[in-house]
Amino acid sequence: MPKLITVARVEEIPPGTGRTVQVEGIRIALYNVEGSFYAIDNTCPHAGGPLGEGHLDGCLVKCPWHGWQFDLRTGERPENPDITVACCPVQIKGNEVQVALPDTFSI
Ligand code: FES
Repeated sequence: MPKLITVARVEEIPPGTGRTVQVEGIRIALYNVEGSFYAIDNTCPHAGGPLGEGHLDGCLVKCPWHGWQFDLRTGERPENPDITVACCPVQIKGNEVQVALPDTFSI
């Protein structure tokens, strides 16, 4: 299991919102979907848009630049599942949100 790093407190990310955080110098998009937290690569694979600033619709986030959507549970783009963003493990410890970079994470 990769090392988990505290990136936020639970109350800083209300349900239905997201933000960009740094994990070991890498920008990660972190979201709260009805109390479940998800973390993905912040960089949209289309043209580099900031997914942490995207609009949430359930477990889908829409890139703020051109509207590509990604499923936070899988990292896949529903319109074309061959296009993905990396997903990161998330753990809640007390009121801390902790994220790990998987070994396969590459930017
Ligand atoms: S940069 Fe994300 S949809 Fe274009």
